[in-house]
Amino acid sequence: MNYTIQLQRSSSSRLAAYDFNNILFGQNPTDHLFSATYRDGRWQDATVGPFQEFLISPLALCLHYGQNVFEGMKAFRMENGQISIFRPDKHLQRLNRSLERMCMPEVPQELFIGALDTLIGIDEAWVSDLPGNSLYLRPLVFASEARLGVHEAAEYKFLIMAMPIANYYNGSVRVKVETRYTRAAEGGAGFAKHGGNYGPALLPTRLAKQEGFDQVLWTDGKTHTFIEESGTMNVMFVIDGTLITPPLTDTILDGVNRDAILTIARERGLPVEERAIAYTELEEAFKNNKSVEAFGIGTAAVFTPIREIAVLGTSYYPSVQEKSLGAELSRELNNIRTGKQSDRYGWNHIVQVTKKAEIAE
Ligand SMILES: Cc1ncc(COP(=O)(O)O)c(C=O)c1O
Repeated sequence: MNYTIQLQRSSSSRLAAYDFNNILFGQNPTDHLFSATYRDGRWQDATVGPFQEFLISPLALCLHYGQNVFEGMKAFRMENGQISIFRPDKHLQRLNRSLERMCMPEVPQELFIGALDTLIGIDEAWVSDLPGNSLYLRPLVFASEARLGVHEAAEYKFLIMAMPIANYYNGSVRVKVETRYTRAAEGGAGFAKHGGNYGPALLPTRLAKQEGFDQVLWTDGKTHTFIEESGTMNVMFVIDGTLITPPLTDTILDGVNRDAILTIARERGLPVEERAIAYTELEEAFKNNKSVEAFGIGTAAVFTPIREIAVLGTSYYPSVQEKSLGAELSRELNNIRTGKQSDRYGWNHIVQVTKKAEIAE
């Protein structure tokens, strides 16, 4: 299938007024937006046009029954001035797995990559080269059919919006091991990136914040013993030099950065274990004076050291050092994305800025 992406240029730009030294994430999109509609069994009307509000029927199914799925990815300004998107193929794989779980139509690779190239191509000046800055990309698919009733929708919208982002979390965080609320259950959709996994996390997070923490550290829904993930990041521990992270199950997100860090660590020959880790194991390690490092990893969270872990009212303090293993691995990952180190895994998709003549305007 050949997808033609129509281009409608915005008649004005907000770029000149944008302050890249003071990025407020989430509220200042670039000038354009990609959109497509799934109707009659296929994706059509693929367009990159001015970012603007749109009308939606109050009967639209996404507003009622939660058929929505999204992704979070980034484009980086490289040392040589080119723009690279970090692992769009892996993000697409996850998007399609999420879509399948929610009975929504998959997005073909050609449409996904074409949409990203066209959108970033036209808004490329929004990709800053300031340290730590990048362009956040938010693909979103939702059920737009206006027909109430719990059923699979026959019509969907696929959007991609883009916005500058600096580091989302500043510095290290304090987390509380959550033993009451559950993020995801076996057989559920915890592995999917859909809104239904985020709304229910707000209350436990609010309660943790009221106690002075930044985030909760989720545990499994059955026993509330085994660590899963935290907020919008996967978590890793380094106990006496061994990198340990919870395994991929149907209750945690298959993080693209998690996979990248594990790949780099394994290539370095470090001991890596993807296995269940109970909070009691962490407690034991602290009590036995083992060296413990803890950190979160994710697209928006980047690398976030965890400086305090509270277990049922008792706090433990992982070491947070500039030269920690997590910081070291994350630096290498960043160097690969920005072209300071070679892209030996083929993770960078270099944006082909589409020549004007090739675009149907
Ligand atoms: C719940 C959750 N876990 C983990 C992650 C990290 O995944 P990734 O590295 O693909 O951004 C995210 C962020 O996208 C998330 O929302």
